Amino acid sequence: MHIRIHPSILAADFANLEAAVGDVEAADAVHVDVMDNHFVPTLTFGPQMVQRLSEVSPVPLDVHLMIANADDHAAHYAELGAESVTFHVEAATDPQAVIDSIQSHGARAGIAIKPGTPLEPYLPLVHSADLVLIMTVEPGAGGQSFMPEMMPKLLALHRYLGEQGLSPLVQVDGGITVETLPIALTHGADTFVAGSSVYGHGIPGDNIRALREAATKGEA
Ligand code: DX5
Ligand code: ZN
Repeated sequence: MHIRIHPSILAADFANLEAAVGDVEAADAVHVDVMDNHFVPTLTFGPQMVQRLSEVSPVPLDVHLMIANADDHAAHYAELGAESVTFHVEAATDPQAVIDSIQSHGARAGIAIKPGTPLEPYLPLVHSADLVLIMTVEPGAGGQSFMPEMMPKLLALHRYLGEQGLSPLVQVDGGITVETLPIALTHGADTFVAGSSVYGHGIPGDNIRALREAATKGEA
């Protein structure tokens, strides 16, 4: 099975983001955490940064919006060249309309679910979403510990997708390392966001290869 590794530049050097995206050519996409100091306490990147990164990155951009009022803002990130745009269902009044709007701009539409948010009310949306993100930390900061208590939610999603014959990407984000990636993999994830474990030490390309290797072992 092909697994996808999406390094999160939240853990990279903000003074040198062009080099940071250049360092992860071995990745499937670069994960860009857009935070608005409202939906989450932190403030990070906005549309201009996403547009510029899309111009210089050797791999596509996976934009993770942690912003309020996704209804009004999500589609714009698709227009700027992101390959996928994921928004939090908690931050949209009409999540189905947001999915439709992102897709109408030619990007994959993702829905994200925070640790405290149940999956069941949002299952109708996974029929049209291209990506479903189960958060494995509370959104807002990198470097937190993986929450194994999210694995039942991930497995429930995996089983539902199987029953319904659906195949969106199933992404996990938060605390993904060579130790935790195989756990999420066995519960149905195929797309892994990794910030600290890619940019926090050593050489990013080597760290990506180590994560892929860990996945091979997890499958055995
Ligand atoms: C957290 C962000 C994550 C973060 C992950 O709110 O959504 O993408 O960068 O960082 P690590 O991999 O360090 O947990
Ligand atoms: Zn993220």
